Amino acid sequence: MTNELQTISQTMLAALNDEMRSVLQANNTMPDTFHGMIHYHMGWVDESFQPVNVHPGKQIRPLLCLLTCQAAGGDWRQALPAAAAIEILHNFSLVHDDIEDASPTRRGRQTMWQIWGIEQAINTGDAMFAFAHLAMNRLIERGVAAPIVVQALRRFDETCVRLTQGQHADMDFEKRIEVSVAEYMAMIEGKTAVLVSLSTELGARIAGANEDTVAHYTQFGLDLGLAFQVKDDILGIWGDESLTGKSAATDIITKKKTLPVLYGLEQSEALRQLYRQPAANDTFVREAIQILDACGARTFTQNRASAYSEGAVDHLQAAHPSGSAAVALQTLTEMLLQRNA
Ligand code: IPE
Ligand code: IPE
Ligand code: MG
Ligand code: MG
Repeated sequence: MTNELQTISQTMLAALNDEMRSVLQANNTMPDTFHGMIHYHMGWVDESFQPVNVHPGKQIRPLLCLLTCQAAGGDWRQALPAAAAIEILHNFSLVHDDIEDASPTRRGRQTMWQIWGIEQAINTGDAMFAFAHLAMNRLIERGVAAPIVVQALRRFDETCVRLTQGQHADMDFEKRIEVSVAEYMAMIEGKTAVLVSLSTELGARIAGANEDTVAHYTQFGLDLGLAFQVKDDILGIWGDESLTGKSAATDIITKKKTLPVLYGLEQSEALRQLYRQPAANDTFVREAIQILDACGARTFTQNRASAYSEGAVDHLQAAHPSGSAAVALQTLTEMLLQRNA
């Protein structure tokens, strides 16, 4: 991380953490099981609810929200409730996603459903969804004008609908062989990009930016979110498990129609045949990755990620960001494309 981004993000993320802890009622006393499960997922306690210091996730969405608010001429502290709401919503979506994807590991730890069971994990996810809305309501207490708060709340809910639509498509595609790249793009826009886009949009709205500027920041977030998910698809197949904190090859086992796989299915009859087989064991995973490597699926996918990332940079420049937050946004965009976790 460059100095500019490091310095600014340290201050912002410390304040974000305080805001989230306040919303999620973490007050340094031993939580009951209901709150403890949430605090476990957030990385604040272990499964016995003792305090721990583990990786809480990259927190790129709240960081984008706060940096955008500052770069668009606002006071980033006013955007803290929105940043916290978005990160809590993101974490809620991961709790349910890990059930939906049958994922045993997240951020290098056992997933919530693995420890407390699917029923309790669904319920805890529901609670986190409600807490995310309560976090949004705090914008009023920070002095954000009521019309902006109402609009932000509507955009928040519209984004939740789109996110679940994306998740619906993602799961639906697992059962299909034929998925077009256009269908895939619509799916990742829903499951990932719209929430990244909401982060930058709300940052700009809370700063009081004009509609033209808001539109550029919104598109910046959308393109960045698309690049981010395409990169995630690469890491889902070729990533180092010890760095991503997620079990490798899960995407292949569940026959996820990620971009490298779609490209491979289009290019290779051998992969199409393999994906018609019902059983997905270690041999299946090894053979699939061999075919994907041989047909250039990784390079193809990395090039697509780069193209979206360039689109993001164009929109960021068109929004005319200012100050050190502008430099930090640029650096963050570049880092996300190069990331290995
Ligand atoms: C994971 O998001 C889910 C996707 C949409 C790719 P992140 O990669 O931002 O997850 P954390 O919060 O850093 O763990
Ligand atoms: C997660 O997508 C997107 C949401 C939770 C909305 P993935 O299922 O592709 O992400 P990972 O790989 O589990 O983090
Ligand atoms: Mg998943
Ligand atoms: Mg998923």
